[in-house]
This record gives sequence, structure tokens and C-alpha cells, in this order.
Amino acid sequence: MPVNEKLAASIRAIYDYPKPGIVFRDITTLLGDAAAFRTAVDELVHPYQGLGVDKIAGIEARGFILGGALAHQLSAGFVPIRKKGKLPHETVRVAYSLEYGVDEMEVHVDAVKPGEKVILTDDLIATGGTAEGAVKLLRQLGAEIVSACFVIDLPDLGGRKKLEALGVEVRTLVEFSGH
Ligand code: PRP
Ligand code: MG
Repeated sequence: MPVNEKLAASIRAIYDYPKPGIVFRDITTLLGDAAAFRTAVDELVHPYQGLGVDKIAGIEARGFILGGALAHQLSAGFVPIRKKGKLPHETVRVAYSLEYGVDEMEVHVDAVKPGEKVILTDDLIATGGTAEGAVKLLRQLGAEIVSACFVIDLPDLGGRKKLEALGVEVRTLVEFSGH
């Protein structure tokens, strides 16, 4: 079976969660499968080897799991992008759109130095609202965003296009379209 099909098969679909009509893509089954987790990390890291990446920025919460592994593999630092009120030092903050309404996320002001090469990561890109907010934060700090990577893309929701329109390269491993 091709690598990406194997990965797709390791992701559990939960129907009608969190509400009727939604198919929730549950990555915990991939994370709990040693071979699938290693494959996902290896596949994400591969195109970035040798680029001299300084930092991986992971988006709370599920982006932390992948981000830590990617940072280790690339010998890069890790930067947490957190939901508001969680980071103890001075931060920059941005509002971002969710399916219903808005929330805010933030990053420490000194987490990235101007000109540092950063890769943004999260488990999944759907509408792209979350990743767009993270791109804004990182650029505010002067980061050079080399790329953004996700295990799962839901292309029907347009997130990849949203990030590409901001000039960010997007890499994903598995796509789920329709329901
Ligand atoms: C999910 C997912 C992404 C985001 C994608 O996170 O982990 O971070 O939604 O959606 P978008 O592309 O439409 O913005 P969620 O907000 O559910 O929180 P969690 O990771 O903390 O569980
Ligand atoms: Mg998330």
C-alpha cells in the first residue's frame, strides 16, 4: 500500500462529531501507531533536510505533538503558538477565525529573531483560519516562513489556498474530500 494510503488508513473517522454531518478526522490513532507516527514525521521532515531551518512553530494543541518531533529531527528549536493567556512572558497576540466566531492566539515576543527560518506545523488544515493567524504572528516577529506542513488537508475548506495566497508554501500528507 502506498505510504500516504497507509497513513490515511491509520486516521480514524468519527461520524457526526462534534455535531451531525461532520466527519471528525481523529489523529490519535495515527499517533498511537508507532510505524505510522514515525512515517508521518519522516515524510514531513524529508523535504526540509539541509535547509538550515532555525525553528519549528507548532500550534496548540495538536501541533505541539508533531512540532516537537519535527524540531528534534531537524535539530531546530521549537516555538509554541498558544491560545491566549497561557504564555508567561510578553507576547504578541492575534485574533483568528474559527468555524463560529473568533479566538486569540499568541507567541512570546522573543521566540523568533528577525530573519530566522521557521516552519509552521499543525495536525490539520481546514479553513486555514488558525494557520493564517499563526503566519501573521510569526511575520510580526520577522520570521522567514519557509513552509507550513500538516498531516491532513481538508481541501474542500480552502485552507491551503488561503495560505498560498499569503505566499506560504504548504505541504500535506493526506487529503480527505467530501464526507
Ligand atoms: C483544529 C486543528 C487545527 C485547526 C484547523 O484545532 O487541530 O489546529 O482546528 O482548523 P482551521 O484550518 O479551520 O483553522 P482545534 O481548534 O480544534 O484545537 P486543538 O488542536 O487544541 O484540539
Ligand atoms: Mg488544533
